[in-house]
Amino acid sequence: MTSSIHRCRMLGCASKFFTYETTKSVVVKSWTLGIINRTVQLLIIVYFVGWVFLHEKAYQLQDTAIESSVTTKVKGGGIYDDKVMDITDLMSPPEGTSVFCITTRLITTKRQFRGSCPYTKYSCNKTEDCMKYMSRSDNGIITGRCVECNSSSLCCEVRGWCPTEVSATDTRPIMEVENFTIFIKNSIRFPTFDFSKGNFLTNITEKYIQKCNFDMQDNIYCPIFKVRDVLHYANQNFSAIAQEGGVIGIKIGWLCDLDWSEEHCNPTYTFNRLDALSQRNNVSKGYNFRYAKYYTNENGTEYRSLFKVYAIRFDVLVHGQAGKFNLIPAIINFVAAFTSVGLGTVLCDIILLHFLKGSDQYKAKKFEQVTAITNTSCISKTNDGYQGSCQLLSVKQKKQEIH
Ligand SMILES: *[C@@H]1O[C@H](CO)[C@@H](O)[C@H](O)[C@H]1NC(C)=O
Repeated sequence: MTSSIHRCRMLGCASKFFTYETTKSVVVKSWTLGIINRTVQLLIIVYFVGWVFLHEKAYQLQDTAIESSVTTKVKGGGIYDDKVMDITDLMSPPEGTSVFCITTRLITTKRQFRGSCPYTKYSCNKTEDCMKYMSRSDNGIITGRCVECNSSSLCCEVRGWCPTEVSATDTRPIMEVENFTIFIKNSIRFPTFDFSKGNFLTNITEKYIQKCNFDMQDNIYCPIFKVRDVLHYANQNFSAIAQEGGVIGIKIGWLCDLDWSEEHCNPTYTFNRLDALSQRNNVSKGYNFRYAKYYTNENGTEYRSLFKVYAIRFDVLVHGQAGKFNLIPAIINFVAAFTSVGLGTVLCDIILLHFLKGSDQYKAKKFEQVTAITNTSCISKTNDGYQGSCQLLSVKQKKQEIH
């Protein structure tokens, strides 16, 4: 008796393992549910085909880690203070980097020597007035003494470069800067696909480049930009930005579908003002910086000319994305699309079990109640052999076994 139980237990477990389970379906013949189900399925298919596959190109492998190099060259000349200035005087840094400044306004303080002199910014009546400025960081060191500024007033003394910087604000901007041209050379590479290209497209000839200027209609690939046009496309007014300075972004975008030929991978140029804060806030408007040129006189004393420069800074920013068909994302998204079509059932189940008339009957059909069989012995009580009864059944079981 015991050995036979043991043997049949082994058999029972083996037969339990070598089975195939499949879900039982309940077919509901209801127009409402049928329409909802098909509509949801259709929406999901349309979404996947139209948006995920055709628009977002989910079958492609994407590369956003664009490698890029930018070199620039600016040309032009202007008049400042009755003196002619060329690009070497007006552009910094001279290397032609992707971030460069073109001077539009200059405030020059000539022949400054090291020493002590009155600082017109801080007026005073007595020494104590100047003591409170001593801890301030300023151009030079405040000595704390109250000295004669000019014939009528007193001001604090500073130890630094003298005379102190002139605070003239009425200098005229160099208007010729609007006609300056910026030449941009950009090479890019998408490392994943080992694809490289430059913004000098094959149809750009030497003759064309000598006379072309970028515009949004006919010359969208010309790599030479007039400052005025760049500001215009960035919705800026030249005279306003020339007065206070500012930062302008020249963005080069490379959106490439490499399933197509190389000619379809072309740059697009967009322009905008990057220091938007300067426009909205009156504190610290625009963009300026200082630099100096140093000289020595005959007896060896160093002196300098100080320049406060208002400039338009151009930042050339490159971004890009390339995609190419690849089996792995294609399969993953294809499977995701198929699985998602089944999502309609979730919604229909909720409606079926909670909102439809007679949902209790549907519930009963969907979830079958099977009472627990406590006796797990192989000796069948129902006389149908030990195939069916040699297992524990849970109280609420969704699956039915078909023999
Ligand atoms: C810029 O060039 C245009 C013609 O190309 C000229 O009419 C204009 O006066 C120039 N601007 C300045 C400030 O020189």
